Amino acid sequence: MKNFIFAFILLALLLTVNAAPFQYNKKAITFQPCPYPGDFLNVKIGTNPPESEKSESFNVSGKLTKNDIIKNQTILEILYNTPDGTILGNDYVQTFNDSIKAGTQFTISALDVPTPKLPDIYLIGVNVGEKTNDPQNSLIYYACAYAFVSDF
Ligand SMILES: *[C@@H]1O[C@H](CO)[C@@H](O)[C@H](O)[C@H]1NC(C)=O
Ligand SMILES: *[C@@H]1O[C@H](CO)[C@@H](O)[C@H](O)[C@H]1NC(C)=O
Ligand SMILES: *[C@@H]1O[C@H](CO)[C@@H](O)[C@H](O)[C@H]1NC(C)=O
Repeated sequence: MKNFIFAFILLALLLTVNAAPFQYNKKAITFQPCPYPGDFLNVKIGTNPPESEKSESFNVSGKLTKNDIIKNQTILEILYNTPDGTILGNDYVQTFNDSIKAGTQFTISALDVPTPKLPDIYLIGVNVGEKTNDPQNSLIYYACAYAFVSDF
């Protein structure tokens, strides 16, 4: 009897471990602070997790501690890439409609962002910053958040 229970628990554990990867993929993703200086962005997405080659909506809010948001100049950038940095599809760029002083809460929505064909592992980066004319450093980052998504 003891052995039977032991075997049953082992089986249950194995099933749990094996089932986990399939569930992970369907779990809602969350955004985290980027590992470099800048402010954090709070990101909410409409279809969560994103669906390959569909349209996605993003609500992004936050507060820039040092930089002002300048109408028609500061941008929201959303991009999908593989862990080695290859960009999937095209990056999505939208300028802010309003100027917002540093230290003031802001919200910006991008309601129709095309999702590229998604591989098993990818990252979504959401940035607020300013474009420059320097091809080596084309965006100055003010704030950022990212999500790491894995099918495994
Ligand atoms: C994003 O904001 C819009 C407008 O405020 C709202 O209707 C929508 O439900 C929000 N979506 C998410 C995912 O929070
Ligand atoms: C911002 O851009 C829009 C559309 O490109 C333009 O109509 C508007 O005049 C611009 N506003 C400013 C303040 O530059
Ligand atoms: C920006 O302005 C355009 C044109 O007036 C409007 O359609 C869009 O909803 C605005 N976006 C935001 C984030 O306010």
